[in-house]
Amino acid sequence: MRYSYRFLKKWVKKILVDFHHDPLRYQHLLNVQELGVKLARKYGASIYKVKTACLLHDITKDESLEFHKYYTDPLDFAQYQHSIGILHSFSGANFIKSKFKIKDQTILYAIKAHTIGSTDHNLTSMILYVSDIGEKSRSYSDALQIRNTALNVGLNEAVLMAINLKTNYLIKNGKTPTKNSLDSLEYFKNIVNNDPNNII
Ligand SMILES: [Fe+2]
Ligand SMILES: [Fe+2]
Repeated sequence: MRYSYRFLKKWVKKILVDFHHDPLRYQHLLNVQELGVKLARKYGASIYKVKTACLLHDITKDESLEFHKYYTDPLDFAQYQHSIGILHSFSGANFIKSKFKIKDQTILYAIKAHTIGSTDHNLTSMILYVSDIGEKSRSYSDALQIRNTALNVGLNEAVLMAINLKTNYLIKNGKTPTKNSLDSLEYFKNIVNNDPNNII
């Protein structure tokens, strides 16, 4: 059974606005979804998969450490237990699988990869990755540039800019980017620099 987008949206609102009193996060999800759909149309991705991944990607971000532990595979939890900012991508994917019976691997993978990055992105995960940073409420110039690049230049270029922005931010704040993010940075640098025609 596949729940409708309308049904999922109602639940997201219930969890984030009614339960966690976090309307800004709910609005962020709608904004990510809005940009995601534009990009899905431009790059030929599945609108349903992109809409669903964008709408649900931060659904567990306000939850407790215990919640993340319950919904995260033990090995992933052991690796990222000190970073709630990362855990929500793992718990989010497992939570929507359990609560909404979403088993589509493309959607689940996109949600898992939206924090730690990947060298094995799919079109949906790339669109979520750039939409998360480039959505309209992010008004700083880097976000604007990522949005414009995704909409007018190419998705590989936009993903590269987004990974660069995230890893630089972490380094500036004394944190270490995940190995996935650093590998992903190299991977997209190679694609963009060595094969400029290879634009998805
Ligand atoms: Fe997130
Ligand atoms: Fe987000």
